[in-house]
Amino acid sequence: MLNLIKSMLVVMAAASSLAAAPAFAQGAAAPKAEVVGNADAGAKKNSTCIGCHGIPEYKTAFPVVYRVPKIAGQNAKYIEAALQAYRSGDRSHPSMKGIAMSLTDQDIADLAAYYANKK
Ligand code: HEC
Repeated sequence: MLNLIKSMLVVMAAASSLAAAPAFAQGAAAPKAEVVGNADAGAKKNSTCIGCHGIPEYKTAFPVVYRVPKIAGQNAKYIEAALQAYRSGDRSHPSMKGIAMSLTDQDIADLAAYYANKK
């Protein structure tokens, strides 16, 4: 019985170190890797943005409630930096933070490329 418990612990430890390894490698590599945005990919990820940063003509869905900045046609690096800042908490805005939290670096780069090319 004791042996069974011991071997289960070994298996569990092995499994958890396996699971942790890729996450760690990714976290360590992420800041160095240059993420290249793809506007076509961004066009498929903007469904959550449209309601507020409405397209076309960037009208908001609720003009009385929200004053939403125009993001279409802005510099991609600016959009990217803004989204990173909402995600990290450097910029605080409850709804944009919530949204940015759900985006990966790739999502942010794709959305920035998409909106920068949007007229
Ligand atoms: C619930 C409404 C809402 C949704 C949904 C939303 N935004 Fe925003 N967004 C805002 C508001 C309001 C601001 C202005 C916040 C502030 O004052 O900092 C903003 C600001 C921004 C800014 C900064 C603009 C600037 O000029 O500094 C960017 C970039 C941006 N949003 C991108 C996005 C993207 C990309 C999505 C979709 C993934 C999205 N937003 C979804 C409401 C929204």
